[in-house]
Amino acid sequence: MSFNLNTITIETILPIIREVADKYLTREDSQHITVKGDSNFVTEVDTNIEKAMKERLSSLYPEIQFMGEESDNENIDFSRPFWILDPVDGTSNLIHDFQNSSMSLALAVEKQVVFGVIYHYSTKEYFYAKKAQGAYLGHASSAHSLNRDTSLDTAPVSIHVSNTTELSRCLVSFGTSPYDKKTLGEKNCETLKQIFFLCEDIRRIGSAAIELAYVAAGRVDIYLERNLKPWDYAAAIVIIEEAGGIITDYQGQPIDISKPCDILAGNKTVHQKLRQNIEL
Ligand code: IPD
Ligand code: CA
Ligand code: CA
Repeated sequence: MSFNLNTITIETILPIIREVADKYLTREDSQHITVKGDSNFVTEVDTNIEKAMKERLSSLYPEIQFMGEESDNENIDFSRPFWILDPVDGTSNLIHDFQNSSMSLALAVEKQVVFGVIYHYSTKEYFYAKKAQGAYLGHASSAHSLNRDTSLDTAPVSIHVSNTTELSRCLVSFGTSPYDKKTLGEKNCETLKQIFFLCEDIRRIGSAAIELAYVAAGRVDIYLERNLKPWDYAAAIVIIEEAGGIITDYQGQPIDISKPCDILAGNKTVHQKLRQNIEL
């Protein structure tokens, strides 16, 4: 590794995220929409944020490659460090002004996520972790990020997954794989039905990254969704593991971050119980 991992901290990365969000997250650009596929859209906010983040990160850390949802990721060498960015996770929410969209940024070294941050654009909460250093939740002040009074920010607090042990007491956040309705729709409805009857209740926020961050913070007990992409789940891997939880594929196996994956996350007890009690 030819860059110094110590230079990558929330203090260096968050100001970049906030500055880029303040500049490019506009209602007007969120209505400049292009169709990508079934129920799948991209807006000018997505492309502008990705472009700006790529420029900023590449000039600060030229040794680190860049993988992003809106980029051509053909030439990534997975044996070398790379960023993984979802500029807007929850684009449908953004288009509909349903205030639950986030940025998800991860850093992978030797195909392991060593740093991750998920920034909720509306609440301005940021969930982050660095390998072996714990997981935290901070709250940025709502003042503009340039020249803002940082004393208004809330100091980050340590976060942990829930300690719920019974499925009947689990709040389960369920991802619907909206872009794969034709292939996964029936299967997902069946899974949803089983979970609904087994668990306390279901939630659906519409940003996988936020839903995974909420697992880390103990706000929901379990999150699952089929066929997520690396930019949807990468940051959450280190945040959930540092928060004491577990995140795997539907078979309980480790995730290969270069590929799409069916993602199941929760505290260790209910993660196992869910796999034992429903057909995934
Ligand atoms: C999507 C959101 C959504 C999830 C989809 C993702 P995007 O990401 O996270 O909640 O259900 O599977 O693809 O397209 O808004 O970045
Ligand atoms: Ca996404
Ligand atoms: Ca996205």
